[in-house]
Amino acid sequence: MRVLVTGGAGFIGSHLCDALLGEGHSVICADNLLTGRMENIAHLSHEPRFEFLQQNVCRPFDCGKVEYVFHFASPASPDDYLEHGIETLQAGSLGSMNCLELARKYNARFLLASTSECYGDPLEHPQEETYWGHVNPVGPRSVYDEAKRFAEAITMAYHRYRKVDTRIVRIFNTYGPRLQINDGRVISNFMKQALLGEDLTVYGDGSQTRSFCYVSDEVAGILALSKAGEHDPTNIGNPAEFTILECAQVVLEVTGSSSKIRFEPLPQDDPKQRCPDISKAKQLLGWEPFIDLRAGLRMSLDYFKSAIQAIGAGA
Ligand SMILES: NC(=O)c1ccc[n+]([C@@H]2O[C@H](COP(=O)([O-])OP(=O)(O)OC[C@H]3O[C@@H](n4cnc5c(N)ncnc54)[C@H](O)[C@@H]3O)[C@@H](O)[C@H]2O)c1
Repeated sequence: MRVLVTGGAGFIGSHLCDALLGEGHSVICADNLLTGRMENIAHLSHEPRFEFLQQNVCRPFDCGKVEYVFHFASPASPDDYLEHGIETLQAGSLGSMNCLELARKYNARFLLASTSECYGDPLEHPQEETYWGHVNPVGPRSVYDEAKRFAEAITMAYHRYRKVDTRIVRIFNTYGPRLQINDGRVISNFMKQALLGEDLTVYGDGSQTRSFCYVSDEVAGILALSKAGEHDPTNIGNPAEFTILECAQVVLEVTGSSSKIRFEPLPQDDPKQRCPDISKAKQLLGWEPFIDLRAGLRMSLDYFKSAIQAIGAGA
């Protein structure tokens, strides 16, 4: 197949490009490099089946006939979407519409990268796909949460009214090599602080929980969903739940760091619990993650060390 991956120069998108090329497809990566990096796809520069298109997907575009559109373009980390609030809303709305139009034009299948943030600060735990969420529509995080909720709505609308063959993946916290080191997410913060010998900053008392999925598990789940005939949203994430404090301790163990833990106030609307119910993915796709946090962090350690060296060299 000829496949379009928007946001393909980002963290998950670049791993998805690798996996699709590995399956024998030709890949066009459309990215405006707002939060992504050419380094993430530098290893593909001599790959004849790979093409990079510098493109803001919020403007109408046409990359020629494709059989599949994977729409991953959007700022994703809290630091990025809070800095680029308008661009985030545009990527979810205009960007999603342009990508759906492209899929409609070429009769291509379409997969939206949505997020567990659609559940907001959930009142149900763990989160099943049938839960409608608990989102503050006007809080600072709404630029991301509501953009993705709109993106899901327009994806379903193109499916219902324009007969586009769509899928929606609700991605939960994912980590691994190529995760931006300065993106303010839990894993990158802790790894950076531990490797630099700085205090690990825990917000609140650290009892809030998160679940973390290693990127190869996440991409395997996304690919399995892309081949299934399911149109309603499907959670793909790792249900092993850690308190933030436990996560900090695992990072200290894996890095061998003697950093201390420092407590700071909780940011506004920070979810207290976030954990996927993946029963649907297990049943529908026969998929489940198998890389646990310790193993995943060990596999990411060399990447984080070199990313920190690169920052040091650039400073
Ligand atoms: N990483 C996670 O844990 C996570 C969790 C839930 C959902 N997601 C979703 O997965 C997708 C990828 O996330 P990521 O972690 O790889 O983030 P990322 O920031 O590394 O990648 C996003 C990519 O999209 C590109 N982009 C942004 N706006 C664009 C635009 N208008 N036109 C073209 N390109 C644009 C960026 O330059 C970047 O390369 C996002 O849609 C995100 O919402 C990620």
